Amino acid sequence: MLRLKINGRQHVLEEAIDPSTPLLWVLRDNLGLVGTKFGCGSGYCGACTVHLNGTPTRSCLVRAANVADVEITTIEGLAGDDGRLHPLQQAWIEHDVPQCGYCQAGQLMSAAALLRATPQPTDAQIDVAMAGNLCRCGTYQRVRAAIHSAAERSSSEAQEPGASRGN
Ligand code: FES
Ligand code: FES
Repeated sequence: MLRLKINGRQHVLEEAIDPSTPLLWVLRDNLGLVGTKFGCGSGYCGACTVHLNGTPTRSCLVRAANVADVEITTIEGLAGDDGRLHPLQQAWIEHDVPQCGYCQAGQLMSAAALLRATPQPTDAQIDVAMAGNLCRCGTYQRVRAAIHSAAERSSSEAQEPGASRGN
């Protein structure tokens, strides 16, 4: 049996899970959370990025059995409980960022962690934070522009009385 806390909800997997099974496999195959993508399976592409206690992490390299006590956030948990999109998701739409889309969940998860740590990142900080997320469609310029837009949106929303945004 395996217990995982994902997107604020406890999941109990009754079936036997091999202790070496990567978190990515469990998310996709056991729990149906297929927003997190399998790219290389070897830690190179970033398509499988999730947050573990807020830190962007490649879920293909983490054993599910080792994160039983960890808060896991996947792309399915990036929007608010009320369904309101994360500012990055809104900016992604406005900038028409995705091409094939395959890398984009990982891009968004890395970008969300960046904005939480650095609310107004420079181009250089964006490039460093996003360097591990490969996009064979070459959407990097739009990714960067969308991150700047989301940062501006979050900043202006934060100045509205009572406004706040997690993730
Ligand atoms: S699938 Fe995990 S880094 Fe590529
Ligand atoms: S949008 Fe196609 S791989 Fe990034």
